[in-house]
This record gives sequence, structure tokens and C-alpha cells, in this order.
Amino acid sequence: MNFDYTEEQLALKAQIRAFCEKEIKPEMRRLEDAQVYPLRTIKMLGEMGFMGMPFPREYGGMGLDYLTYVMLVEEISKISPSHGVAVQTHHALATWPIFTYGTEEQKRKYVPDLASGRKIGAFGLTEPNAGTDAAMQQTIAEDKGDYWLLNGSKMFISGAGVADVYVVMAMTDKSKGNHGISAFIVEKGMPGFSFGTNEDKLGIRSSTVAELLFNNCRVPKENLLYEEGKGFKVAMTALDVGRLGIAAQALGIAQESFDMTVRYMKHREQFGKPLSSLQALSFTMAELETKIEGARFLLYRAADHLDQGKSDISVTAAKAKLACSTVAMETTLKAVQFHGGYGYIKDLPLERYMRDAKITEIYEGTSEVMKMVISGGIFGRGAKHEEKQVRILKDASELKAVLAEHPGDICWSGGRGLTAAGFEKLQQLAEKTGGGFGASRGAVRAGLAKEEDQVGLTGRTVAPAVYVAVGISGMTQHLAGMKGSGLVVAINRNPQAPIFAAADVGLVGDAEEILDELLAIL
Ligand code: CAA
Repeated sequence: MNFDYTEEQLALKAQIRAFCEKEIKPEMRRLEDAQVYPLRTIKMLGEMGFMGMPFPREYGGMGLDYLTYVMLVEEISKISPSHGVAVQTHHALATWPIFTYGTEEQKRKYVPDLASGRKIGAFGLTEPNAGTDAAMQQTIAEDKGDYWLLNGSKMFISGAGVADVYVVMAMTDKSKGNHGISAFIVEKGMPGFSFGTNEDKLGIRSSTVAELLFNNCRVPKENLLYEEGKGFKVAMTALDVGRLGIAAQALGIAQESFDMTVRYMKHREQFGKPLSSLQALSFTMAELETKIEGARFLLYRAADHLDQGKSDISVTAAKAKLACSTVAMETTLKAVQFHGGYGYIKDLPLERYMRDAKITEIYEGTSEVMKMVISGGIFGRGAKHEEKQVRILKDASELKAVLAEHPGDICWSGGRGLTAAGFEKLQQLAEKTGGGFGASRGAVRAGLAKEEDQVGLTGRTVAPAVYVAVGISGMTQHLAGMKGSGLVVAINRNPQAPIFAAADVGLVGDAEEILDELLAIL
């Protein structure tokens, strides 16, 4: 991997920097204070081609690779992180999904206008109850034959009201969970589509954020993006690309704050010498530079993976975003600190960078979500506890019938919900059925069973054809010892006991009485 800048990349970086210095910088303060979307300069970026950087020329784009795209988002964000997010949302969350999942007709209709910046794109996923848990969509899209009827709302939508084209996720079949979510292309002006008021924010204040409101909004049938039920995939893969853009935005903030601090430390003198000669400060700068460079390599590698067409960039993109946003926050805090009072007042943009950096740890997936994605890469995405649907039986005779359908060894295991007499009954059942015997850690500690009987993480592992857990609450440590079992039977007085979530069948009632009944009929 060689990430040295090419001549073309250097020329584009210089071009965009010069534009940002000339056109954006002078009006930044005014737009940020007033929370006004920078439409004039976004349109100018479009005229220069920078609103369609990675899309093919035949669709109105510049035909650049994603590596160059992130370098340029980084460059824009050095001067204006608000422009950085506006540019990247438009590219990754609106134009990219239409270009990637759209029909040829949809691509021809929308991409050239978006890629040229004639139209601006936005993304509607987040809802009041669906932030990090993005699959909890409550906006509904009903199939009305020749159109879709959307009802619901989205919140915290970047570019809401200014953007012309929105990629919006909505539930088309609630019973299917994330497989019931579909994506739609919704245009400003469609009947029943309106916007809430702008949110007053800590940072990136000229990137406006508001609600999308759908009140019997009619969306043409042909505006379903990709297939019905595939909207979550559209959203997640778009966010993978989006996270590269946010990482680039964060990196731009980090780099600019760092460079300003280096310049300041060279000329600012205290105690008769420049700040750069104070080791506590210069060592901090050494650490920050190392972290910024590390974050940059993660970002460029993730963008390179996208350029290579790797099918899944989730983990590499998450690492890039986590590293870049963390270092942006750290660098901006230090930059303000090292500038002292000058860092805190608004003459310099450092206090703004510090405020702007914070959102990079939150939007397009919080740092915690990035860790979920990265740890999913280490341990597997399915490393979640799978809840079974337990079937509650009406009595011991029904359990007898179920056991008859599951031949093989049975392990009779008891917990603290049993008395010593109950444990004797369990032993008798084990002998009677030729099965094994076990106990929970709690029962062993309470002296109801022997240490060697303990089933669980700190005890034995068993995998019988049938595991009968009697009076066991079902803590994770116990489940670890029995998870290879065939049929799991839970017998407990408390219907809320976690053991029922791990069981196939269950009996709710007095465990000792149920054991008496079983002894009588088995
Ligand atoms: N690519 C493709 N498929 C993916 C995927 C990805 N990156 N991530 C998940 N999936 C698929 C899984 O394979 C799985 O498919 P099956 O159901 O067929 O098995 C399905 O999606 C569900 O996966 P999970 O069970 O892992 O999903 P989950 O519900 O547990 O959620 C999550 C995972 C990572 C937490 C996800 O919900 C998430 O990313 N949350 C954060 C949302 C977010 O980033 N919001 C940002 C809003 S936009 C914004 O901020 C823009 C702005 O303002 C600038």
C-alpha cells in the first residue's frame, strides 16, 4: 500500500484549499453563528465538480477514486467541518446508495443532478426511537397499489429542508424486523413531505439539522430503492461509506488544529523560551502526530479497500472512524489548552474545532457502535445471545409426553430454588431415568450439592439429549455449561426467570410438587 500523494491528488488538494481560503473562510463565522446552511459555496463546489467526486463521468461525476475523495473531504474540513459533513452526506448517504442500488432509470434520473451539485442529497434513517438501534424504524410505508404512503418522522437529519433528494428508510413489514425495512427516494415537494425547525447545536452549526415529517406522503411506486425489505442493507452499507467521510472530516479537524498549534508553539514565548522547548508540551505533540498519522493510514486503507471493490468494508471503516474521531477530540482539546486564553476566544477557530470534533464521535454511528462493529469482526457478528421461544407446558404429564419424543440421556439439574429434599427427588429421578445429575453454582455454594456436580463456566460442561433445569434462575455462567444440550426444560416458580429464555419447554409452578408428580409418572 502506497499512500504517498500523487501529482493529481496534490493539485486537487491545493485547488480545494485555495477555494476554501478564498470563498468559505471569510464567511464561516457569520454562517456558523447564525446556523445558516452554506448553500452558495456548496453550489460553487458543485460547479467545480466536487459534489460528485467518486462517480463516473457518464453520470456527471469526476471519476475519482475513494482514496482521493477522502483526502479532499479532509481538506475541506480543515477550513469548514460543516462543509465537510454536507459534502460527505450528499456523496455517501444519498448519491452512493442511488448509484449503487438504483435501477438504471433511477440512476439516470437522479445521479447526474446530484453529482453535479445541481441538486443536494440527504439521508433519512434516524428517528426518536431509532438512533443507535437503527432497525427500530417506526416510519411506515404502505403499499397503496400505484404509490407508497409514508407516515412518520425522522430526526437529526443533516441538510433537511435544503436538500432536494432524500434516501429514506421506512417499515414496509413490521413483522420482519430489519428485513421489513425498505429504502425510498423522496423528493422535496412531494405531497405530505415537510420539515421541522433547525436544531440549535454545539458544533458544525452551519450544517443544518432538522426533522423530516411524513404525513400521508405519496411516493411514486418506482421510487422504491433496491428491493422491498432490503432497506436496512442499503442504510448499513451507505453508512460504511459515510463513516469514511466522517473519519476524513475528523482527520481534517485534527490536522488543522495540530498545525495551528505547532505554529503557535514555535513563536509563543513564556518564561523566556518558546512553548516548543517545554518537553511536557512537545512530547504531547509527538504523541498526537503519531496518532494522527496512524488514524490517517487506517482511513486511507479503508478507502483503498472500497476502491478495490472489497465486498465488506464495515470493520475497516469503523476502525478508521473510531481512530480519526478520537484523535480529533484529543487534538482539539490540547490545541485549545496549549493556546490558553487565545484558544478559548472566538478570534481563532480552535474553540469551534473543539466543538465540531465532538459530533464525529456521535453521528454516523457513535464510537460505541464502531466498537460493536469492530468487536463483531473479532468475535463474529452473531456473537449475541439467541433467545429461544419457550413453549410453556400445562403439567407434568405433558412434560412426560415431550420427554418421550426426545429419547437419549437426561441431566437433572437443580438450583437454589430447591430445598435439600428437592435435591433428593432430583437424584431419584436421575436414577429412575438412568440419567445424570447436576447443580448450579448457587446450589453448590448453599451446600445443596457437591462441587463436582456444578454445571457452568466454573464447573462441568454437559451436553445431554435433555437438560432439565429445576429451580435454576439461568445466569449466563450456568448457561455456558449446558449450551450444547439438545432439549432444554425449565421448571421454575418464577415465569420471568432468565432460564426460560434459554429453554425450549417450561413448566411454571412449585418445583418440588412438579418433581413429586414426575416421580409418580415417569
Ligand atoms: N453491511 C451489510 N449488512 C449489514 C451491515 C453492513 N455494514 N451491518 C449489519 N448488516 C446486516 C447484518 O448482516 C444482518 O443481516 P441479517 O438480518 O440478514 O442476518 C442485519 O443487517 C442486522 O445486523 P445486526 O444484527 O448486526 O444489526 P443490529 O440491529 O444489531 O445493528 C448496528 C447493528 C451496527 C448497531 C447498527 O444498527 C448501526 O450501525 N447503528 C448506528 C446507526 C447509525 O450509524 N446512524 C447514523 C445515522 S445517519 C447520520 O448520522 C448522518 C448525519 O447526520 C451526518
